[in-house]
Amino acid sequence: MKQTLIVGNWKMNLNTQQASLLVKRLDDRIAIHRDIEVVLAPSMLVLQPLSLQIDRRKFRLAAQNAFYKDEGAYTGEVSFTMLRDLAHYVIVGHSERRIYFHETLEVVRDKVQAAIRNNISPILCIGENKHERAANETKRVIHDQLTTALSNLTAEEVEKVVVAYEPVWAISTFGGEIAKPDDVQKVFKMIRGHISELYGSKASKAARLLYGGSVNADTAAGYLAIDGCGGALVGNASLNYHQFSGIVEAAYRLKHKAKA
Ligand code: 13P
Repeated sequence: MKQTLIVGNWKMNLNTQQASLLVKRLDDRIAIHRDIEVVLAPSMLVLQPLSLQIDRRKFRLAAQNAFYKDEGAYTGEVSFTMLRDLAHYVIVGHSERRIYFHETLEVVRDKVQAAIRNNISPILCIGENKHERAANETKRVIHDQLTTALSNLTAEEVEKVVVAYEPVWAISTFGGEIAKPDDVQKVFKMIRGHISELYGSKASKAARLLYGGSVNADTAAGYLAIDGCGGALVGNASLNYHQFSGIVEAAYRLKHKAKA
């Protein structure tokens, strides 16, 4: 059975000390669940100290970004190669990177490829903004972002990519409108259909799809219950240990209800 993946993207928050305190609190509240994979994405600076602190049966680490070259004269950057033994995942193409740091479709593609080359699973974020949504362009945006991002991969490599659907308008800091699970389900179908067209049905079925955008302990179950939903990418609520452990708990309850 596939694990449900719950990822906390702390964004540019929490120094080493604050992060360590949050992990301690999460550790007290979250039990070891075989069928739930809990991933923390702290700032780059905090990855190394947290890697020494975390109970690896409970938590894994993700980086929020990395550069697509493996090494060289790229002042200020950190490569996927450097993250190899530290992070299981790297978030790639987050809308904040596309918007504030002007990451193009091609940059995102190169980062996805660099992740795979370095044996790290990319968590590829895609999603339309509110203008594109109003203009009924969701399908085109998803199509363009996915096609380019995956274009240098084989079907087998595509299976290692986690795709996070994060509509920009639903992210708490960009307006935080609450997406309806039914609408998210439609986009999940689009994503799988598109992967199937490009890479075949095996890759499409294997793809892990996450939802992100204002997920909290109250709304999580609604999204996680969507057919084929592989988990959640959580921003703001992941900074609060009640909220984040509540989301993990909701994922656990849902799994075990499904089994009963
Ligand atoms: P929020 O959960 O704060 O809306 O953020 C979502 C997000 O961008 C996670 O990557």
